[in-house]
Amino acid sequence: MYYQLSCVVCIPRSIWVQPSTNHSSSKSDREQRIEYLTKIPRSVNLESLQNGYLFPEISTRESEYSRRNPHARLIKLGIGDTTQPIPDIITSAMAEQALALSTAQGYKGYGPEQGNRELRRAIAETLYQGMEVKENEIFVSDGAQCDISRVQMLLDSSLSIALQDPTFPGYADSSVIVGRAGRLNAGSRKYKKIVYMKCEPENNFFPNLSKTPRTDLIFFCSPNNPTGSAASRQQLEQLVEFAKANGSIIIYDSAYAAYISDESPRSIFEIPGAKEVAIEISSFSKFAGFTGVRLGWTVVPEELLYANGYPMIRDYDRIVCTCFNGASNIVQAGGLACFSAEGFGALKRTMGYYMENAKILVETFESMGKKVYGGKNGPYVWVHFPGLSSWQVFNQILERAAIVTVPGIGFGPGGEGYIRVSAFGHRECILEASRRLTKVL
Ligand SMILES: Cc1ncc(COP(=O)(O)O)c(C=O)c1O
Repeated sequence: MYYQLSCVVCIPRSIWVQPSTNHSSSKSDREQRIEYLTKIPRSVNLESLQNGYLFPEISTRESEYSRRNPHARLIKLGIGDTTQPIPDIITSAMAEQALALSTAQGYKGYGPEQGNRELRRAIAETLYQGMEVKENEIFVSDGAQCDISRVQMLLDSSLSIALQDPTFPGYADSSVIVGRAGRLNAGSRKYKKIVYMKCEPENNFFPNLSKTPRTDLIFFCSPNNPTGSAASRQQLEQLVEFAKANGSIIIYDSAYAAYISDESPRSIFEIPGAKEVAIEISSFSKFAGFTGVRLGWTVVPEELLYANGYPMIRDYDRIVCTCFNGASNIVQAGGLACFSAEGFGALKRTMGYYMENAKILVETFESMGKKVYGGKNGPYVWVHFPGLSSWQVFNQILERAAIVTVPGIGFGPGGEGYIRVSAFGHRECILEASRRLTKVL
């Protein structure tokens, strides 16, 4: 968090200083003196970025609550972080790889920047079976968040963008950073140059494409964070057709695809023709509990071409080689073990556990007469509280039940009036949350 300095030395009022992280320092942050300024202006793009609005604000309110209620047992169903242990077969593979690095035969230095062949092949054969995705089109990475930014770097900053509203904030924020979003309109909470595609119960959480203006890029997340809804085959066919008619590119985020329980496609490449218009970004974070381990991948098809016919995959390869030197070999060994029969089976059981949590949360809110969405194809439950702002609901649930959720507004203006509840908790926390909610709401 940043504090504005108002009365230190003789500096412009707009100067912002990062507080010291040395908590033992006797000087308070506000007393810090600025000794020296560089001549470097702050990036206009970064100045346009909403100041870490959502999660820092949640943790401030959370700490404030804990300060006032030191004995309360907070249940954190806010941030979408996994909680269950990684199956032993996967951590053993990582441990084995780590130990091998201490041997003459097992030592490895830099690997291929695009990822180890075996892992790329395993991803292609297991997750893209029948979709004609080749292993050389898969770029293994340190996670989807980093890949979203690398894809942003691939595409010219003058390109226009559309995104679902609500959706994962990383698409808007990285677009702002590369200078593609324009200024934030404080009233509407929308960036001027972003097209927001409203996704709500009335349109089955799929945008009305007939009313969506053409943009160069379309970010699309399915199953969606935060609504938990997955687009159907027919909807994705429409999306691909729309992109094709407009000469646009879809940047498809399938980080939660492994949670899909119905016939909804798990990849945009299940849709014929998608290879000519889409890039897919995905992750081991939610599927294998690798949020801290860090592993993901991006598929850039050979068929995806710029207006001049040049293949984007070649530029993406350059970006990966320039801005990233390959994922850790230890982590990639773990990634490979995820695709062993035993590893895959164990991960499915963990995902089943989270989805059982989601079911408990859905039933809890439904029993209270709330309209509840998600929780069937994704580990998030999206609950509507008509007439209240999402921060009001967040505060009520925190104050009355000591439960941390996420206010929907943090995912875009279309999230107002909703909260997102994460199913990635321990079962006893979910059950306790359910009891408290039923009592107090
Ligand atoms: C839709 C979506 N994409 C990407 C990410 C980031 O994934 P990773 O941990 O692989 O960086 C998240 C994390 O919550 C997410 O919800």
